[in-house]
Amino acid sequence: MTEPLVVLKDVNKHFGDLHVLRDIDLEIGKGEVVVVIGPSGSGKSTLCRAINRLETIESGTITIDGKPLPQEGKELAQLRADVGMVFQSFNLFAHKTILDNVTLGPIKVRKEKKAAAEKRAMELLERVGVQQQAQKYPAQLSGGQQQRVAIARSLAMNPKVMLFDEPTSALDPEMINEVLDVMVGLARDGMTMVVVTHEMGFARKAANRVVFMADGQIVEQDTPEEFFTNAKSERAKDFLGKILTH
Ligand SMILES: Nc1ncnc2c1ncn2[C@@H]1O[C@H](COP(=O)(O)OP(=O)(O)OP(=O)(O)O)[C@@H](O)[C@H]1O
Ligand SMILES: [Mg+2]
Repeated sequence: MTEPLVVLKDVNKHFGDLHVLRDIDLEIGKGEVVVVIGPSGSGKSTLCRAINRLETIESGTITIDGKPLPQEGKELAQLRADVGMVFQSFNLFAHKTILDNVTLGPIKVRKEKKAAAEKRAMELLERVGVQQQAQKYPAQLSGGQQQRVAIARSLAMNPKVMLFDEPTSALDPEMINEVLDVMVGLARDGMTMVVVTHEMGFARKAANRVVFMADGQIVEQDTPEEFFTNAKSERAKDFLGKILTH
């Protein structure tokens, strides 16, 4: 593996009595694309949210580029900018134009000049194929277009790593590929990515590694090839049996 960018060591987290992350050890190399899969409730979203500190952890350490996650304040805002996150729901600001949605972070957090932020935003909107929609409002776009804007908005902060939590699961089928194509492009361009998805096509095409979680633990991890054709654990075989027959 290349130099590690995101490192989790012995991470634990409870919600009340529920042990949602159990002794998680995970290293993600620079430029690596890791797909996280596993049954509902296995802790995939909590793992992502812990990496950009939307959730606190109780024990263990998480470092990004060698630095531990900051607790609060300016450093935390900086971390959030370094770790882009795209959720199932698009979370765009409804009362702002597409262009303003993308320039807001760079202007407010990165202190970029408006003109420079807009120039870069237009390049990113073009990259995700929605430059024609720049002056529209989110509600005027399709779900697939909105999700591509959400990706552009994260990229505008020049993140070191991008986290995707089921970015296509709220989309109509015909819009899934337009979003996955953008993500495959990002992966090919060398972005470090953690992607929670059940889209096996994406995993096969773009992932370096598949991490399978169950009950808050990493049960097994392997290349997509090996994992999909030759899973070792009963949990993973059972899970694959369920999703691959759909
Ligand atoms: N804020 C919370 N408070 C209490 N319990 C929570 C909270 N967030 C998640 N949980 C519980 O923690 C467990 C792990 O949740 P998580 O959302 O990480 O799972 P997941 O693998 O992302 O599932 P899914 O595939 O359904 O999205 C679940 O049992 C969930 O109900
Ligand atoms: Mg989830």
